[in-house]
Amino acid sequence: MSGKDERAPAELDPGWKSRAVQGSDLERVGIEEVCALTGGVDMWHTTPVESVGLPSVRMTDGPNGARGEIFGTSRSTCFPCGAGQAATWDIDLVYRIGKALAIEAKSKLAGVLLAPTVNIQRSPLAGRNFECFSEDPYLTAVMAVAFVEGVQSEGVAACIKHFVCNEYETHRMTASSVVDERTLREIYLLPFEAAVKTARVQAVMAAYNRLNGVFCSEHRRLLTNILRDEWGFDGVVISDWGAVHNGPAAVKAGLDLEMPGPPRHMGPHLAASVQNGSVPESVVRQAATRVARMVRSIQLSGAPVAKPGDPEGSEDSPAHRKLAREAAAKSLVLLKNEGVLPLDSANLRRLAVIGAYAEEPAIQGGGSAQVRPHAVSTPLEAITERARALGVDSTGGIEIRYARAWEPKSQIPSADPSFFKPLDEVGSRFVVEYFEDAQLSGNPVRSEAAQHASIAWAGLPEGFSLDRPFGARWRGTLQVPSSGEYVFAVAASGRSKVLLDGVEIVDNWTAPVPGGSMFGATTRERRSVVVLEAGREYSVNVEFTRDPTFEQSLPTQTPVTLVHFGLEKAERHPGLGEAVELAAWADVALVFCGTGPEWESEGFDKESMALPGDQDELIKAVAAANPRCIVVANCGSAVEMPWIERVAAALMALFPGEEFGNALADVIFGNATPGGKLPFSIPKRIEDCAVYPGLQPEGENVFYTDRVFTGYRYFDTRKIEPLFCFGHGLSYGQIEIIDCKILQLTSGDSQSQRPLTASQKSAVDKSFPATATYFGPQVAMVQATLENRGRRRGAEVLQVYVRDPQSSISRPEKELKGFVRIELDPGDAAQVQIPLESRDFSYFDTGARDFVAPSKHYEILLGFSSRDIRSRLVFRLE
Ligand code: BGC
Repeated sequence: MSGKDERAPAELDPGWKSRAVQGSDLERVGIEEVCALTGGVDMWHTTPVESVGLPSVRMTDGPNGARGEIFGTSRSTCFPCGAGQAATWDIDLVYRIGKALAIEAKSKLAGVLLAPTVNIQRSPLAGRNFECFSEDPYLTAVMAVAFVEGVQSEGVAACIKHFVCNEYETHRMTASSVVDERTLREIYLLPFEAAVKTARVQAVMAAYNRLNGVFCSEHRRLLTNILRDEWGFDGVVISDWGAVHNGPAAVKAGLDLEMPGPPRHMGPHLAASVQNGSVPESVVRQAATRVARMVRSIQLSGAPVAKPGDPEGSEDSPAHRKLAREAAAKSLVLLKNEGVLPLDSANLRRLAVIGAYAEEPAIQGGGSAQVRPHAVSTPLEAITERARALGVDSTGGIEIRYARAWEPKSQIPSADPSFFKPLDEVGSRFVVEYFEDAQLSGNPVRSEAAQHASIAWAGLPEGFSLDRPFGARWRGTLQVPSSGEYVFAVAASGRSKVLLDGVEIVDNWTAPVPGGSMFGATTRERRSVVVLEAGREYSVNVEFTRDPTFEQSLPTQTPVTLVHFGLEKAERHPGLGEAVELAAWADVALVFCGTGPEWESEGFDKESMALPGDQDELIKAVAAANPRCIVVANCGSAVEMPWIERVAAALMALFPGEEFGNALADVIFGNATPGGKLPFSIPKRIEDCAVYPGLQPEGENVFYTDRVFTGYRYFDTRKIEPLFCFGHGLSYGQIEIIDCKILQLTSGDSQSQRPLTASQKSAVDKSFPATATYFGPQVAMVQATLENRGRRRGAEVLQVYVRDPQSSISRPEKELKGFVRIELDPGDAAQVQIPLESRDFSYFDTGARDFVAPSKHYEILLGFSSRDIRSRLVFRLE
């Protein structure tokens, strides 16, 4: 043993804790190690500083499940997506989801949860709408506060994202969001401001895009002036993964941590800038101190600290499953119901279940939010089980028949290697030849054996460089197990093609079109169908070449090179015919339609609001065959519904998580009441939206010309009727407002004290947590009595909108400023109180550089959706 004292620094230095909490234990640490702290050590971990006993902390996505380090490995509870969480309008529930996610994050040994996502659903086409809570900044802010408080109550740091104006995916890494100051403050910054000031969120993720020309990761006004100086944020600003372009500029602007590691611009790279004086040492020390402080606070709260490779757990917790089921049921929005729901099981004998989503539901969207769920409860299984449990009476119970009707996939799956002849004893199936020549001519530079002809290289294979031409060819011998039609497909982050016996059968080389479903980093897939004979040998070549000019046009520039070679037997589904027959046979036809992770994901936006494939035709045909047709729309954002007039009922199931089936069965058989409310408007057509066209950049800029008129603010102000409005959702009960009033509170009133936030309050007061005030004391209290006059239990959300009838500046027709969700049995009544603060009446005055709320009369609108206003009160703000 050496003479060195082996005890941990903490034991040698009893004052460690207090200095560590302040992060000032870094004072003794040399600048090199200090710099290192501003970059991750790998994909998910902060850098440890051994000399002061500062460990690494692990981070994990995300908003609907704590995935852990690697996609597709350990399992996690999959909760409803952000939009689904907001559709519950249940603050206490979202608080409990946050808490559960933190517990799951800890089981993955993570101390930071990269969530919630609080960008605004500005257009129905934005790729990550499902991850975001709402089109409304107030609803988003309330949900964000509850979520963050839930996460942080467990000692895990929440990292709210993406700061700011990342409302599109295509070109998100390069585009600049051009937004005026008032719009920025009232709409896009609001959820972040509430999370910082009210929930004291510990971390903020700087977005990929630019804001008014400057990358968010280098935006000093955003990261320092607004976030820290104005709002008092004292946590860590983390870059989105790969969002840093210039280390010195980023750290000077207020960015603390470049992720992922090893960093490309900060971390050790900052040492030279400190040495040459271009970055003051104090700036780097400050950033590192903030990182250290967060790590210490996670460590001291008892949340795990882990280093790369420490194994993660995966517990299928009954409590989390129960919560996921409650959340999924409450997130279902009943759009329309002409008396068919809940199903009358006493008179139902034949139930047709139609559409692939019944069997393979879209429980989550795509991209970094994805988790590997525990067992998924599918609608088909759950409905079948529920029907069985309802028992067989003298007439025979409920018979269920199912028709899949279509294939919900936008991409042909990767070729099964077992279709190719093995080349060696380790089972390689392809020879890959690499060229430093875009045409793949001459002899390859190198060749090797491979299992697949689909690949994702970080950059390029070893030995090749992005500044020289690069091409690759996979050669294999195909022998299919059965004769028939096969679909060949190829997509890549460059030009690609497939040759069969030397003949080109798929050409994605001559005119590749950007926009595939793999993070937006490839071309669209091209396909062709060929008849193959079983047993016969075919030579297959898959060819790929990089094209730097073409790469610039891809929706996402990532450092990853992708080649996807798809091959599968062309299956013929009986499709429409079988579905129509079943519908005609049944008493009720339940049709599932939707999108899923291939259409709604990260890196690219949706191309249209239409349902993929022939789903609209399917629904119309089924509804024509059976008027008692119920549609379940399983998608993460608004879709066109050209069939809505023809169906008897429609439910919007956002991406509801792994308990979808059980939750849906609860609702359709009447064991739970639907009470979800749309967190976004469903326009009749995309052309009706304020953001049309114009979601994506013109040149480099995305102009936020809709200003403060996002979503319903636009439809209401311009008097455009949506198909279903913001806040809409039916229930099985019939809840009415039987009286309401508004009380003026003065600063002396005990009630005007700034209250606990709703999620804190709900912990002590279980009855109907309503929105609280977030930025100041209460100035008014809306009081209402609600009664259920229906014959079934019902859920409702009383929504409070503020209207400024005579404003000197242009303001939206009305804006949501408070709400409360209640559930009542028939005949029951309840009194609810919703506080308002002066911010609720204000607009951002760019001259005063502050929110101002002129003293005058305002209208307070109470209702059950943004267009179902039941009472109007007048309030004079003093
Ligand atoms: C996403 C972030 C995510 C990060 C890590 C990025 O591509 O935009 O939301 O947290 O990856 O997975």
